[in-house]
Amino acid sequence: MQLPASVTIVEHPVVARDLTILRNKETPSAVFRPVLNRLATILAYHALDKLPLKKVSVETPIQLTDGFEIDTQVIVVPILRAGLGLVHAITQFIPEAKIGHLGIYRDEATHKPVEYYVNLPKTGLAEGTVLLVDPMLATGGSACDAINYLKNKGVKRIRFMCLIAAPEGVERVQQSHPDVPIITASVDEKLNENAYIVPGLGDAGDRIFGTG
Ligand code: PRP
Ligand code: URA
Repeated sequence: MQLPASVTIVEHPVVARDLTILRNKETPSAVFRPVLNRLATILAYHALDKLPLKKVSVETPIQLTDGFEIDTQVIVVPILRAGLGLVHAITQFIPEAKIGHLGIYRDEATHKPVEYYVNLPKTGLAEGTVLLVDPMLATGGSACDAINYLKNKGVKRIRFMCLIAAPEGVERVQQSHPDVPIITASVDEKLNENAYIVPGLGDAGDRIFGTG
């Protein structure tokens, strides 16, 4: 089952506190990574809402009763590189998830996405549910490119999870892909002249991997 096309902004005191730690330019990668994982775990809980369930029987020590199993193959697709920082958050909840990789970077001059690596599961894309993950939704170019790619491969159910979105990116994804729900911790103010999110947290990949 699919969520209606919408944006979910997850509001919670822990989310607000963790987002502040991530935004702080003094936060080193050693702290950034575990805080990112904690915040992403909260987002993942919401991103996995309303997954289809099937009824099963389970025998407790007392008696047989009804239980549930998740009734869709979950496929996590991080947009490399920064999306890698969000994968564990999903697999904590869905250990059997398959993981596909989409390598897309944003050209620094044009701000347009460039694909450089693809490795997706060979089966189950059409029937499964893809959780496309990337910490930042800025212009929306990378997300739309990734969604187009996945749809061309036959994927029918996609959810996009990010930490911070710009209004411009949200609008672009919603206009091009109204069927793809967006789950985020914040929709920030705007993009700056370099297409960075304001106030944002800077370059997510550099902050995760310590390459800035
Ligand atoms: C960042 C980010 C998104 C993209 C968002 O990746 O992780 O993939 O930019 O920008 P957009 O919405 O304008 O496309 P980047 O290109 O810096 O690559 P990286 O993950 O390898 O650092
Ligand atoms: N990519 C990032 O990592 N941060 C931004 O603010 C915009 C694109």
